[in-house]
Amino acid sequence: MGIPRIALKIMNHKTALITGAARGIGLATTELFIEQGWQVAMVDRDADELNASAAKLNNAKPFVHDVSIPDQVNDMMASVQSHFGRIDAVVNNAGVADFGPIEQTDFQRWRTVMSTNLDGVFLVSQAATPALKETKGSLVNIASISGLRASTLRVAYGTSKAAVIQLTKQQAAELGEYGIRANCVCPGPVRTKLAMAVHTQEIIDAYHDAIPLNRYGSEKEIAELIVFLCTDKASYITGQVIASDGGFESTGVGLPALRVDITNLD
Ligand SMILES: NC(=O)c1ccc[n+]([C@@H]2O[C@H](COP(=O)([O-])OP(=O)(O)OC[C@H]3O[C@@H](n4cnc5c(N)ncnc54)[C@H](O)[C@@H]3O)[C@@H](O)[C@H]2O)c1
Repeated sequence: MGIPRIALKIMNHKTALITGAARGIGLATTELFIEQGWQVAMVDRDADELNASAAKLNNAKPFVHDVSIPDQVNDMMASVQSHFGRIDAVVNNAGVADFGPIEQTDFQRWRTVMSTNLDGVFLVSQAATPALKETKGSLVNIASISGLRASTLRVAYGTSKAAVIQLTKQQAAELGEYGIRANCVCPGPVRTKLAMAVHTQEIIDAYHDAIPLNRYGSEKEIAELIVFLCTDKASYITGQVIASDGGFESTGVGLPALRVDITNLD
């Protein structure tokens, strides 16, 4: 009798597990993986949005779980394993943003940000490690330019993302001997629901001033880097922190002033 053909088909396909896959960068990454022949375990705590997004896709299955709750992460991993039988890549993308001054960031607000942005990455990566050992798979953690450079109002968000950068390096150092790679992607601003909830017009204008490419990025531009890092094309890349940010991180003072000077030349 043996294994049914449909189960064999699923088990032979590379599988990515993506958290926060219902929308935004996670959904764009899901779509790009599928375009490249992978199948995707889409994880999100927003059941309505996740199910609606997954229903439009082939080779993707929704798993409704909250990555900040240890029991839910364990249940999620068991369900994904029992459906797909393998995990080749984990993209820790689920995130929340809450911008506020230090004095107004009470412990509950701090914990809400940390529990998804940092605890979630730790928990999902740890739970996926046995499966990734079997496939010599890879982890990609999504941090932010706010984890690379400090700014106002980001005491919780920026600190959580800086910690994700260090967590990625710890994972690369320890899991490399099992053939598991771990890398970190730091997106610049992208017009998703998360960003638009915290970006005022002043913040939008300031980003345009500070970004050499002078625009926000797209979900697809971030997804391209994430998927690349999960493929064999990146087989010798681990422990790296890479910004997809239109040049934001590499610039210093004076960019807006120089733009004005250039305009005045003619
Ligand atoms: N959009 C930007 O400008 C930007 C910039 C830098 C970094 N990022 C990072 O990129 C990632 C994706 O952000 P996005 O802009 O696509 O946001 P988004 O709000 O569009 O999507 C985030 C998804 O994560 C899910 N989610 C949140 N907490 C969860 C939890 N505890 N368990 C399961 N699912 C959860 C949400 O339901 C949502 O579907 C985040 O980690 C964010 O911090 C975004």
